[in-house]
Amino acid sequence: MTSARAVGVDIGGTGIKAGLVDLAKGELIGDRVRVATPSGAKPQDVLGAVQEVLTTLGVAEDRVPIGIDFPAIVKNGRTLSASNVSADWKDFEAEKFFEKGLGRDIHFVNDADAAGVAEVRYGAAKGKPGLTILTTLGTGIGSAFLYNGVLVPNTELGHLLYKGKSIEKYAAVSVKEDKELSYKKWAKRLQVFYSLVEFLFSPDLLVVGGGISKHADEFLPLLKLDTPIVPAVHRNFAGIIGAASLAGD
Ligand code: BGC
Repeated sequence: MTSARAVGVDIGGTGIKAGLVDLAKGELIGDRVRVATPSGAKPQDVLGAVQEVLTTLGVAEDRVPIGIDFPAIVKNGRTLSASNVSADWKDFEAEKFFEKGLGRDIHFVNDADAAGVAEVRYGAAKGKPGLTILTTLGTGIGSAFLYNGVLVPNTELGHLLYKGKSIEKYAAVSVKEDKELSYKKWAKRLQVFYSLVEFLFSPDLLVVGGGISKHADEFLPLLKLDTPIVPAVHRNFAGIIGAASLAGD
């Protein structure tokens, strides 16, 4: 049986966000809760922060399903990479670790894949045939491939190589902030990224998520692409909504 409500927890390199989600509407019920990602993002500290957001939401003792997303490759509950978090997450039984620490089952998924699920079920990719590629622009760059509505997980486009490094080190929002790049200058870097993605995968639609997507008007019109590119309908809430939706399945 599917649930009517579920909690989504979106773990990012900078913030950990959580909310209770109405699964029929794909919308948050009440406020989103946020804490900063603990410095170093080690497993025990991240678990503590997740416990904190669940307590603040008032669901720590509830039996409502919980989905947690994380900024790493997630395969069979294990985190296989660690780019913007502690190296302790590499080859780590993360899902079991959270389940033990929280004393309950969870659904565990990559953060961009969670956002992709939210957009395909309730947002910009809903009902879209062919290949939609959602990218999240934030501390790193995440990606979700949705082919005829089906998620192909762990695509990791932020790690396409550009000048010998992961392209997220050139084009993520964190780089824009560190280098104090204007939208115009940053858009030139995004152009490199999206042109490469467009050439390699010939998508039918590009969807842009992450907190910066609320300022999409500042940079999407500067990009020259053949593929339509739109902001995620659920902006920075997509991860929470997608993680919750998967937990409710
Ligand atoms: C990670 C991805 C993640 C993305 C966005 C990248 O560094 O490798 O797994 O989806 O950041 O958080």
